[in-house]
Amino acid sequence: MASDRHALVLLVDDDPSSLKLLSEALAGQPLTLAVAIDGEMALRQIRREVPDLVLLDAVMPGLSGFEVCRRLKEDPATRGVPVLFMTVLSDTASRVRGLELGAVDYVSKPFVREELVARVRTQLAIHAAARALSEKNEELAAARASLELEVARRTEELRAANQRLERELELNRAAELKVRKAQEELAHLNRVSAMSELAASIAHELNQPLAAILSNAQAARRLLGQAPPDVAEARAALDDIAADGRRAGKVIDRMRAMLRKGELSAVALDLGELVREVARLLASAALLAGATVRIELAPGLPRVRGDGIQLQQVLLNLLVNALDAVSRRPPEARLVVVRARPADGGGVELSVADSGEGIPPADLERIFEPFFTSKAQGLGVGLAISRSIVEAHGGRLWAERGPGQGATFRCALPVWREGAP
Ligand SMILES: Nc1ncnc2c1ncn2[C@@H]1O[C@H](COP(=O)(O)OP(=O)(O)OP(=O)(O)O)[C@@H](O)[C@H]1O
Ligand SMILES: [Mg+2]
Repeated sequence: MASDRHALVLLVDDDPSSLKLLSEALAGQPLTLAVAIDGEMALRQIRREVPDLVLLDAVMPGLSGFEVCRRLKEDPATRGVPVLFMTVLSDTASRVRGLELGAVDYVSKPFVREELVARVRTQLAIHAAARALSEKNEELAAARASLELEVARRTEELRAANQRLERELELNRAAELKVRKAQEELAHLNRVSAMSELAASIAHELNQPLAAILSNAQAARRLLGQAPPDVAEARAALDDIAADGRRAGKVIDRMRAMLRKGELSAVALDLGELVREVARLLASAALLAGATVRIELAPGLPRVRGDGIQLQQVLLNLLVNALDAVSRRPPEARLVVVRARPADGGGVELSVADSGEGIPPADLERIFEPFFTSKAQGLGVGLAISRSIVEAHGGRLWAERGPGQGATFRCALPVWREGAP
């Protein structure tokens, strides 16, 4: 019942005087009254405008009140209308029948005015409350439906977001896989290039002893072919061959050891001895190049820590390069100077300076790259190997242009300390 209008009460009775009495009894109440004088009319009116209460005479010609009530309860549109029966019948059976048909209350004719008013008001109040309740229920149902809709929408959003995330994850996984494959390929390439560098290193380091062995073998044959054969000199040449063979073996051993452990055997080394030994190994090469090799050793040099064979290789590589460089100069200008002296800031500095054509400033670093060479027969690995050996010793190797002409290579090495690792 809307609060801005009076409740509509339909009075149904075939007796006009009864209708009049009822109207008078209910006059003054906040009600709008409508009347019907038989069942058919009552039903028509109710269908046109559903009232808030029907006061229904049970006994009428044509459709009885009971029948009207039954039909009202049958139709969903009118099922909720409260029906209050009025009848002269006061027997229990009729009351029960009316109530069974869905009537909400019962008044007996002739009625007492106050009782009628009280029952009508009670029913209207109950009906209004019921209507408000059902309206609230509808609101709740609507709210619930929209909530469910919202939940469904959010769920769908979450599902979509989840799907997006999964797709991204999938893409990331694929990208990661690609990176890993690229890394593996790179590692493989690194191994391949390490192998080729290694092969080049071995070829390079064995070149010098093999060349020496070859020339000593030729010399021995010549000495033995002389008349009379110079057996003593030939024996000396054979001794040199054996020594070079042993050295070549040691070079290979060292490389194997380096490969196996990646570390070197460090002992206390006398640099003076090392320089003299290398100069002896290269004496004939220097002679062939027509070069003078001068050795300048500072007195009282501390010993350095390192691997003798490997450091010999370094000095050998530097000296062979220097002899190469000076061989392109006029004979009187072919000088190579090997120096060893204490370095500023501790350690020992070994240097090889030559009177060759020097090194273009732009190449001072590039010459240490593997396979960098300016020589037709060069492999370009001598300096690369030398630098990695020196660095494995905790030292440094670098090139400078000489003060006048020529190149100078300097090698800084740490000194030997008792008990140091
Ligand atoms: N004393 C030097 N004077 C001028 N250039 C030099 C000297 N030493 C090295 N170089 C330059 O550095 C390059 C690289 O030297 P490195 O010893 O690494 O290789 P290589 O002598 O060319 O060949 P190999 O691998 O047979 O020694 C040389 O080709 C040369 O151009
Ligand atoms: Mg070289």
